[in-house]
Amino acid sequence: MTPQNLTGKVALVTGGSRGIGMAIAAGMVAEGMHVAITGRNDAHLLAAKHKIGDSGPGRLETIEADVRRHEDVERTIDTVVLAYGGLDVLVNNAGIGIFTHVADMTPEQWASTIDTNLTGVYNCCHLAIPQLRKRGGGYIINVSSLAGKNAFVGAAAYCASKAGLNAFSEALMLEVRQENIRVTYVMPGSVATGFSGGDEQKGADWKIGAADIGQIVLDLLHMDPRTLPSRIEVRPSRPPAK
Ligand SMILES: NC(=O)c1ccc[n+]([C@@H]2O[C@H](COP(=O)([O-])OP(=O)(O)OC[C@H]3O[C@@H](n4cnc5c(N)ncnc54)[C@H](OP(=O)(O)O)[C@@H]3O)[C@@H](O)[C@H]2O)c1
Repeated sequence: MTPQNLTGKVALVTGGSRGIGMAIAAGMVAEGMHVAITGRNDAHLLAAKHKIGDSGPGRLETIEADVRRHEDVERTIDTVVLAYGGLDVLVNNAGIGIFTHVADMTPEQWASTIDTNLTGVYNCCHLAIPQLRKRGGGYIINVSSLAGKNAFVGAAAYCASKAGLNAFSEALMLEVRQENIRVTYVMPGSVATGFSGGDEQKGADWKIGAADIGQIVLDLLHMDPRTLPSRIEVRPSRPPAK
């Protein structure tokens, strides 16, 4: 991958139907990349396709698929390769947050958090790496969270899933770096999205913009292949004083 030119490169962005994933996909399409986005809800995917529309020279495919389901991810990778001829970039962005105390958290809520935020990333990496190898290398970008290093009350499952994702990303980076596959994990603080049922307008004046995470992803992809910023922390510049 040349540092400056992303035109025609192929990316899969999981959870690209809303929030950060949609902003990442929009930035890529504007750069001329061919992008596939996934999500569990077809209506969200169609709305994203409408919003991203013809925002750039790149193409956009939508695929209804749940990252928790290995067979869904298998179908996703096959669809991307059939549509675009290969895969260069995987962005593991799909994630959920269920914020409740451990004593009140159901086994289903726990499993859903770990299955989405951690096992889902394994599913995508496991199935994408052979495709990246076929291209002679590629890039995997994992959207983690500052919650993976800064624990807080009511977030045990979420914090554990993101701390696990950080460790997974570091081990994978060491595993595939000699094959020209770079791995970065990005750890944002509060981003203005509807994450976990929140109101994306609330705090939009001080939170990180989803488009800013999209910009960070593009900056990583533009980075000279000899260099790897493997862990990125990003936070609001001026959060309200507590
Ligand atoms: N917002 C923040 O403050 C913040 C901060 C740090 C990190 N993050 C991380 O950033 C990522 C994106 O969050 P966001 O704020 O953009 O949230 P969001 O607006 O809720 O978007 C989440 C996206 O993931 C998809 N998704 C959820 N579960 C999925 C599954 N099992 N399979 C496939 N797609 C799935 C959703 O689509 P469907 O619901 O239609 O499936 C949606 O497209 C997450 O990993 C989150 O942990 C967010």
